[in-house]
Amino acid sequence: MEKLLAHLSHLEITCPDVEASATFYIEKFGMREVHRADDRVYLRCWGDYSTYSLVLVPGDEPSLHRMAWRTTSPEALETAASRIEASGITGEWTEGGYCYGRAYEFTGPYGHPMRLVWEVEKYQAPEELASIYPDRPEKRSQHSCAPRFLDHVTVATSDVHGFAEWYSQNLGFRVMAFTDLDEAPITVFSVLTTNEKSHDLGVVLDTSERAGRVNHIAFWVDTHEDLLRTADVLMEHGTPMEYGPSIHGIGEQNFLYFREPSALRVELNSGGYRNYVPDWEANTWKPSQGSNNFYRNGAMPQSMTESFPQAEGFTATEEGASEEMKEALLNPYAVQGRG
Ligand SMILES: [Fe+2]
Repeated sequence: MEKLLAHLSHLEITCPDVEASATFYIEKFGMREVHRADDRVYLRCWGDYSTYSLVLVPGDEPSLHRMAWRTTSPEALETAASRIEASGITGEWTEGGYCYGRAYEFTGPYGHPMRLVWEVEKYQAPEELASIYPDRPEKRSQHSCAPRFLDHVTVATSDVHGFAEWYSQNLGFRVMAFTDLDEAPITVFSVLTTNEKSHDLGVVLDTSERAGRVNHIAFWVDTHEDLLRTADVLMEHGTPMEYGPSIHGIGEQNFLYFREPSALRVELNSGGYRNYVPDWEANTWKPSQGSNNFYRNGAMPQSMTESFPQAEGFTATEEGASEEMKEALLNPYAVQGRG
């Protein structure tokens, strides 16, 4: 298939308290506010090539309001839209929004709102923020935690294989890996990519009744040292580490996870391999092989299975979950497979 999507462009997330979340992202995490309209706050990392990568939208619960992906060309946008419609999903064309042009918006088969766009405004820094290096959209931030740019989003779905297949067949994502539990043949995780990164779209199994949930959003720093310093500074300033710092087996990124004030989980990554293999065949890992924790020595906390909006009774108590599933999800070692 012709390459349709180039990269993850921006994420819109809902926050019950937009001000509290904005303060966190700006003051603690080192992003910058570039725009505010209709109670939405538009934030950028210093290295984002387009104007912003995160939009905080007022909402009752933390959730993924929409994920926006940039196509490889204007023609690819048309092709992607027609492929989606041919699959039986009807979206709609919009005239665009703040710093992006005509877009195709639809809700994927597992309930995730998406926007596909070609025209995005490249960021032009004001004089005081302009870099001395031609390729940098802005000076490197002086904030000790500041991520360079948006990295990926990991959503939740009732059917990991079905999700991977639909996004692969219709939008050309390469499926890079799966994780099945050690205890039972249950697929709990997969990673997909539009480019050479190990993933820019992750997906975890969701046993709740709520479709279209998100597990975490993720940003990037250049080095492992940057990541460790962020962990240090966040800890000292009242933001605990939910999991990590450590290294994922799948993708081999350094990682850490924490929560922002709305409870939404944020990940920070550095490192990891690049994969250019056009006919890559996804391996299926077991958690015991280190899919989530490369060193195989740190169980993922149960809290990491929580997706957003939060669902009552998620995991083991969920009605309808098989006995096998309940047992697997109750075993904290088993849930190492997600990440
Ligand atoms: Fe992730």
